[in-house]
Amino acid sequence: MPQRQAVVPLTLKRVAFANRQHQNDPSVTPNLEVFDPLRCYRKRHSTTELKSKFQAVQLGPDVNTFGYRSQACPGRYVAVAEIKFIMARLRRSDSGETKGDIC
Ligand code: HEM
Repeated sequence: MPQRQAVVPLTLKRVAFANRQHQNDPSVTPNLEVFDPLRCYRKRHSTTELKSKFQAVQLGPDVNTFGYRSQACPGRYVAVAEIKFIMARLRRSDSGETKGDIC
């Protein structure tokens, strides 16, 4: 049910998208309540056609974390690399490989 209706001709320049609701839809992400770190890895390896899909930086109709098409986030490669770096540092410090401050 539309919440608003245009009564005069209108050209939208930007459109907001309910990404969280979309990604949390069970038809898009089944078994959402289960922590599954290999969810995307398994999708990637399920067929040869999907081998290069479901990457963290990838855009697509079912993955809008970084936007889509011409408005997509140009900083997504930096963002994902940084998140991986932080996770690796945390894991390293957690496994006792470092002493004291991790930064
Ligand atoms: C986890 C981190 C990040 C997330 C989730 C994120 C997500 C997004 C999203 C959803 C958009 C909007 C796309 C749209 O308007 O449809 C966007 C745009 C943009 N992002 Fe990011 N972003 C992140 C990090 C970064 C970083 C690190 C940079 C720069 C180094 C960056 C630079 C930009 C720029 C310049 C735009 C505007 C693109 C345009 O309108 O053409 N973002 N980002």
